[in-house]
Amino acid sequence: MSGVIEYKFALLGDSQVGKTSIFRKISTGNFTEENISTIGTDKRTLNYTDLELDINGKKEKKSFEISLFDTAGQDRFRSITKGYIKGSDGIILIYDITNKESFEHVEIWLNNIKEILSDWKASNYLIMLLGNKLDLVNSGVLQRVVETEEGQNKCNNTGIIWGGECSAKDFTDVQFSDLFKDFTIKIFEKNGYKKIVKQHSKKIGKYIKKKSFC
Ligand code: GTP
Repeated sequence: MSGVIEYKFALLGDSQVGKTSIFRKISTGNFTEENISTIGTDKRTLNYTDLELDINGKKEKKSFEISLFDTAGQDRFRSITKGYIKGSDGIILIYDITNKESFEHVEIWLNNIKEILSDWKASNYLIMLLGNKLDLVNSGVLQRVVETEEGQNKCNNTGIIWGGECSAKDFTDVQFSDLFKDFTIKIFEKNGYKKIVKQHSKKIGKYIKKKSFC
């Protein structure tokens, strides 16, 4: 099947863990120390064109359009964030490796997600966990309070995907893009053509939305 496969991803996690910084890095390539709390949500589109995938032993090329949503970590925006959890195909859950509480709250975020998605099963709903602010530890500015193994173990125990540790400051936009690309492929492998596929209609010369079946 041709066409562009559309997925929605939401960035979640406590306030200040670096969701907006990762969002900005992947969409503009820039990082700023400036601290502006997200109000509501923000959206960017990521395009992965002609990814070569192994589908049932056959090599096929697929293109993806990812709507990436940055959500607000503050409690007062919980009800808005809830809507984005419901509508997403994948969640990138972020904690700060220099902030223990943000890691402890991963469990709370997972419980929230389970409550919101009543049909939630780790096996068919994909969540990727990322530990951010690695540069602060590498440069000795702050001490790590969450060990890498703790992040990995959390994933082993809950069935979510370990995306690894990252830095919104030091990682390039390409590094983040590759990370999100791998996540996209995992979602496709798990869910296939679950979502609406955009196909180019030669007749009317514009994009039409069409349901697809796997
Ligand atoms: P909310 O919008 O309140 O939910 O916060 P957020 O999770 O979007 O955090 P944000 O990206 O606004 O980052 C909070 C602060 O941490 C800012 O001052 C950023 O500059 C800083 N920050 C984020 N990521 C990193 C990182 O990887 N390294 C360093 N050194 N600072 C970071």
